[in-house]
Amino acid sequence: MLRRLHPEQPDSFAFTAANQQWAEAQITKYPEGRQASAVIPLLWRAQEQEGWLTRPAIESVADMLGMAYIRVLEVASFYFMFQLQPVGSVAHIQVCGTTSCMICGAEDLIAVCKEKIAAKPHVLSADGKLSWEEVECLGSCTNAPMAQIGKDYYEDLTAESFGKLLDDLVAGRVPIPGPQNGRYAAEPLKGLTSLTAHDSGRTQYNASVQLASDLGDTVKRIDGTEAPILTPWLGKDGKAAAAKAAPKPPKAAAPAKPAVKQAEEAKAKEDQPETLTTARDGQADDLKMLKGVGPKLEQTLNGLGFFHFDQIAKWTPAQVAWVDARLRFKGRIERDGWIEQAAKLAAGEETEFAKRAKKGDTYKD
Ligand code: FES
Repeated sequence: MLRRLHPEQPDSFAFTAANQQWAEAQITKYPEGRQASAVIPLLWRAQEQEGWLTRPAIESVADMLGMAYIRVLEVASFYFMFQLQPVGSVAHIQVCGTTSCMICGAEDLIAVCKEKIAAKPHVLSADGKLSWEEVECLGSCTNAPMAQIGKDYYEDLTAESFGKLLDDLVAGRVPIPGPQNGRYAAEPLKGLTSLTAHDSGRTQYNASVQLASDLGDTVKRIDGTEAPILTPWLGKDGKAAAAKAAPKPPKAAAPAKPAVKQAEEAKAKEDQPETLTTARDGQADDLKMLKGVGPKLEQTLNGLGFFHFDQIAKWTPAQVAWVDARLRFKGRIERDGWIEQAAKLAAGEETEFAKRAKKGDTYKD
């Protein structure tokens, strides 16, 4: 199935203040240069806020993480958990259509979706409250057929119970998740045949349904009324984050640099490639002809003093490491083969990428 951005997009996206704080805290989980690791949590939060992932949301997450837009779009379009089109304002229904569910009646459930929501998946119902899609096995095969609605599973469904469930959602009610045929969990339909002694001490619902009904956030969108955001890795109640954000007291006189630091600085100086303050004759090469270099990276390279292919072509491994340490994403120079590309371009030859870039297909960063 092709997953594309929806043709109609809002003009902008912004996290709510609480979500922005949460997102910034997530980024601190990862070491410097590895911020891209936060891409899935941030996209998910954006989706929880808006219901689906808009293009501005994808771009906003990319900007926060210093990633190329296309890289974040790749993540968003790869994982089916990300919705790339508007979903129902109340709920998006995901009906499992894989083997166990299909044998046990998934097609009947899909017929209910077609009748009550829309004839086609990913289309909003007439009142805009619901949307649906068929998904692959959700791992609840012993309770087939089933559907995921919002954050929870509704299992052991029939066309009738499922239809009623959709009616309840439209009417503003949220049915208790879990088995809908009276089963407690995944025990035999006629009741427990073993471990019956444990039957007496159990909670009203099975553990996951109990938690789901205690939380009560099955189809709830993030609206700023959530419990405080916890960032335990930053210290108790995120105090470390607050301390980080607080204005810093004036610095005392800098202590003398330790010998190790001095040695590191001397080594960095030694490894620094030759740089220029401006392009020779005011004519910089178009560094975007190098695969992996977009407008932002070209600016960074110019800022470091690199304007010409022949400068890059001459970098030694130590100099590559020096430049790499000053780029936001490490390893790109070697991965994209800048030295070989730059050598060819400096010699007046073409590269496959440069041919495409000249036609406007440049790298976006
Ligand atoms: S086949 Fe439907 S949950 Fe596994």
